[in-house]
Amino acid sequence: MPSANGDSTRNHLAVNPVFTAEPAHIPRNTLPGDGLAPDVAYQVVHDELMLDGNARLNLATFVTTWMEPTAEKLMAECFDKNMIDKDEYPRTATLEHRCTRMLGDLWHAPPADDVTGCSTTGSSEACMLAGLALKRRWQHARRAAGLPADRPNLVMGINVQVCWEKFANYFDVEPRLVPMQGERFHLDAEQAAAHCDENTIGVVAVLGSTFDGSYEPVADICAALDRLEAERGWNVPVHVDGASGAMVAPFCDPGLVWDFRLPRVASINTSGHKYGLVYPGVGWVVWRDAAALPEDLVFRVNYLGGDMPTFALNFSRPGAQVVAQYYTFLRLGFEGFRRVQQTCRDVATSLAERIGELGPFRLLTKGDELPVFVFALRDDVTGYSVFDVSAHLRESGWLVPAYTFPAHRTDLAVLRVVVRNGMTHDLADLFLDDLRLAVERLSRQAKPLRGAESASFAHGASAHHA
Ligand SMILES: Cc1ncc(COP(=O)(O)O)c(C=O)c1O
Repeated sequence: MPSANGDSTRNHLAVNPVFTAEPAHIPRNTLPGDGLAPDVAYQVVHDELMLDGNARLNLATFVTTWMEPTAEKLMAECFDKNMIDKDEYPRTATLEHRCTRMLGDLWHAPPADDVTGCSTTGSSEACMLAGLALKRRWQHARRAAGLPADRPNLVMGINVQVCWEKFANYFDVEPRLVPMQGERFHLDAEQAAAHCDENTIGVVAVLGSTFDGSYEPVADICAALDRLEAERGWNVPVHVDGASGAMVAPFCDPGLVWDFRLPRVASINTSGHKYGLVYPGVGWVVWRDAAALPEDLVFRVNYLGGDMPTFALNFSRPGAQVVAQYYTFLRLGFEGFRRVQQTCRDVATSLAERIGELGPFRLLTKGDELPVFVFALRDDVTGYSVFDVSAHLRESGWLVPAYTFPAHRTDLAVLRVVVRNGMTHDLADLFLDDLRLAVERLSRQAKPLRGAESASFAHGASAHHA
């Protein structure tokens, strides 16, 4: 019987004698008095994990679920390396630095002696660091001008990922969340500028939105903030949350100007473990130049007898993912990344189009920005809900989240598909067959069985914390 936290209420696990010479009882919630043989411990843990979903069929996550065996081999060789031990593992530190240089170059950072940036555990930590730099820069400027610096705010769309609400909460910054309106599901330039004032530390522009995969109009937002500066004198920097898109747009949308080519863009983050194609967890943040990261946020760690600047929330952190990122950059190169991301986009746009043709669904996005799209049920479908569709797909192993949008579109319930490396055209065909079957069965249902209470998904700033 499961308890409130989903764990079994049995205090002991009886191990089948097939796995061990003697029948054994293993305590679940206290440390066993004696240890177990490695094969028995392995079997017990392995068997329980069989009940987890199949990661490759998880169309909910943005995070990498497949890497090639040589990458896995390299990661296994580095499991014992701690990223913070720069002195002990100087080559790992060098590879990290090369990755930041490659990203600075990819995102058109202005030429400088060196890049200002670092690796993190993921985009959440990267966003915290970028947000802290914005806050500290604003505080310095305010104090230098003899003005109060105690009421900072950050402007962003309500569609931002929950890490931004965490940043605002943990670091005492007022989150100015611009609601959705009608068919506008992300921040636009006009609303961004309208929500700024002298206490705005920055605007977050998301490339692209976790809710629907769309890119926010970074260049338009910057232009609106240029006009605001001309009119009011407020110089508001932009941080681009490119958790996914900063590793898609450079390859698939070379004509789109969203990065450091825009002088107002102060910093950019990405998740190495999303479209950076590395297993979790690695993220990256790069600043336009050294001036964008206040010196008083940077700590020095011992490095080859000298000191190495670090800016991070964690101390110890695995080195394997950073090494795997460097491997992936070398392995694929620009052209390889372009092919992988373009294939994801081709699979996403083709699948979206065919889902649109099935009949009951209305596409909100088409997968032509991030390879991610969302679709709702048409108004005349009254016999079932998107939550029913999600539950039916789960029966055939597909994990497709259904959720409602945040204010002011809480009336809108959608399904989201994230296409990642490894989701082939063939798998997409099989998915479509299963979706078609689910819809056929559901069309015989008289009324929806599941509502928003069965949504399995909370990633947005509208998510409530306990
Ligand atoms: C736009 C955006 N920002 C930040 C994050 C948080 O990233 P991470 O899971 O790498 O901490 C996500 C995760 O989905 C995201 O989509």
